[in-house]
Amino acid sequence: MKKYVVTGGAGFIGSTLVRTLLVDLGDAGGEVHVIDNLMSGHKKNLEEVSDRVALHIVDIRDGAAIAPVIAGADTVFHLAAIPSVPRSIDEPRPSHEVNIDGTFEVFDAAVKGKVRRLVYAASSSAYGDSETLPKIETMAAKPKSPYAVQKYVGELYASVFTSCFDLETVSLRFFNVYGPRQDPSSAYSGILSLFMKHLIARTEPTIFGDGEQSRDFTYVEDVAALCLKAAHAPGVAGKMFNAGNGGRYTLNEIWRMLQKMEGVEIRAKYGPPRAGDVRHSMADTTAATAELGHAPKFTIEAGLKKTLDWYRASL
Ligand code: UD1
Repeated sequence: MKKYVVTGGAGFIGSTLVRTLLVDLGDAGGEVHVIDNLMSGHKKNLEEVSDRVALHIVDIRDGAAIAPVIAGADTVFHLAAIPSVPRSIDEPRPSHEVNIDGTFEVFDAAVKGKVRRLVYAASSSAYGDSETLPKIETMAAKPKSPYAVQKYVGELYASVFTSCFDLETVSLRFFNVYGPRQDPSSAYSGILSLFMKHLIARTEPTIFGDGEQSRDFTYVEDVAALCLKAAHAPGVAGKMFNAGNGGRYTLNEIWRMLQKMEGVEIRAKYGPPRAGDVRHSMADTTAATAELGHAPKFTIEAGLKKTLDWYRASL
């Protein structure tokens, strides 16, 4: 019987991946285990699938606690992290400990537990400010923040765990993922969750800088589908791929689109640019398409609409 483990499975992306895995297991059955300390994840993210998922409320830094959960898994999806560029600047130590030390514990448990493959959630932040767009996997990493360094170290470890310890790993650099269940309650929340919150409350969002910075916003179900493909694609052990859509939109464009969708006019406030911010981000998806079968389904309009519907129903 197939066993999947998702670290960070009670979080925004992880809980979507859990649903994708349950569909994949289908009638054949199998086990889905979630490791989450509920620091930024929530039990309610797994509400309607809770009877089909084993939730282990443990911290990834606790090697002894995660080892028995990970042992014998077919695939481990390592998504648990303290996200956010500004948070890693305000509080570098906790994000270092979770994102680097915790990641090491997960990889180590995977080797000792004879896991077949580990899919690691890397980050597009590793590219930093490249001179050209789109960003392609062969470009040198140029991290601009502790978070970007930490996520990049995880990639390096993933590749070395494949070459030195015989664990198949695949790193996916997530590009600004958005969608239902992204938590808008913190100042460190992703911009699209904050835009949704302000749109529904009819309040002004704050845009850091001139709003002309751009991102390759990627719908969460497309990322979850790619994680599953990365678990099974042949001949990719030790490699890193972009997990993006291959487009880019400025914050000003997205805020305009959302106002139009909601039929309102709310002027955004503008503040100083944020430290560690990357100016433009857009993925080259050629390698992920060719080697993993990446085929994102959601245009920005379709993804924003589904996301907005969810926030309307839940906020
Ligand atoms: C970065 C990574 C992304 C990763 C994420 C994890 C890049 C290009 N992307 O996202 O892959 O998943 O970290 O946290 O490095 N902003 C505002 N107002 C706000 C909040 C944010 O204007 O209230 C702006 C930021 O300054 C930034 C943009 O919105 O320019 C996106 O910010 P955010 O959603 O935090 O994600 P990134 O830092 O781009």
